[in-house]
Amino acid sequence: MKITVIGAGAVGATAADNITRKELAEEVILLDIKEGVAEGKAQDISQTAALLGFDTKITGVTNDYEKTAGSSVAVITSGIPRKPGMTREELIGTNANIVKSVAENLLKYSPEVIILVVSNPMDTMTYLTLKATGLPKNRIIGMGGALDSSRFKYQISQHTGASPSDLNAIVIGGHGDTTMIPLIKHATWNSIPVTQFLSAQQQEQVVADTMVGGATLTKLIGTSAWYAPGAAIAGMVESIVRNQKKLFTASVYLEGEYGEQDITLGVPVIIGKNGAEKIIALQLDEEDKAKFRQSAEAVRSMNNVLSESKII
Ligand SMILES: NC(=O)c1ccc[n+]([C@@H]2O[C@H](COP(=O)([O-])OP(=O)(O)OC[C@H]3O[C@@H](n4cnc5c(N)ncnc54)[C@H](O)[C@@H]3O)[C@@H](O)[C@H]2O)c1
Repeated sequence: MKITVIGAGAVGATAADNITRKELAEEVILLDIKEGVAEGKAQDISQTAALLGFDTKITGVTNDYEKTAGSSVAVITSGIPRKPGMTREELIGTNANIVKSVAENLLKYSPEVIILVVSNPMDTMTYLTLKATGLPKNRIIGMGGALDSSRFKYQISQHTGASPSDLNAIVIGGHGDTTMIPLIKHATWNSIPVTQFLSAQQQEQVVADTMVGGATLTKLIGTSAWYAPGAAIAGMVESIVRNQKKLFTASVYLEGEYGEQDITLGVPVIIGKNGAEKIIALQLDEEDKAKFRQSAEAVRSMNNVLSESKII
């Protein structure tokens, strides 16, 4: 089993580190366009093997797609990250061309690959990857909801004192500061609704802080975050390669589900050896349905940029 991570920047290298430590494959390939970066980071990660005790081999390469041949799963993190004050949407032009050429190169050497798209604006990049490769919809999955849901649990834990791993809470919709929908009314602390522990004002605060979770870190660090994104990627890759069939929110192609067509957007989905295996229907109230429609409209208008700029 081979797993490829494209982009050896902050997110890609952290994802590769987590994947390697968890021994999710015999071999991990880390690829970057910048000479020496992937080789160096792969060597650094390899040098933790004796300390942490893992046997997965990790190899870094500069734009050499032959080395990625036969990958079962590939993660695309290549592109530029957000700078303070920048929205994910503003990244579209630069990252679209990068993501498209990366996806095409990957497919040349790994025709059976399942692709996890991470580069922002993630929903639009996932849609682009699907359209550019023509792969079946189960094999193109956007990572955003897994991260946003983890950030949502963090915020709930800050107000309730609950252990984040005792919480069940998901974020659906787009992976954008204004398009994501943290479902507070559905969130539970070991089956008990969290709304029981939070005042209306606290609930509003938790939702608002979750929505700007990424931007808050970008402001503090000066670039976008990588530890939680890397862990979220590794969790999804694990569910694929170990066929765990875990339920994540992920950006997948909708054909009528949640009332939407021809768009990839964050919904609850079972992730297993075939990728995105089954979208789970969730009963939303009118308020959340309206938010989902608005989120789809915003993502669709970004997707339109792809055709307007003749990228797809
Ligand atoms: N979906 C999510 O939840 C999520 C979370 C965090 C970051 N992101 C996004 O992930 C992307 C990466 O973020 P980062 O912080 O790792 O950025 P980074 O700048 O640290 O790393 C990006 C890497 O991509 C490489 N790259 C650029 N063009 C390439 C190409 N054509 N082929 C191969 N490699 C190429 C760069 O050399 C760089 O090393 C950004 O678009 C960021 O916005 C998404």
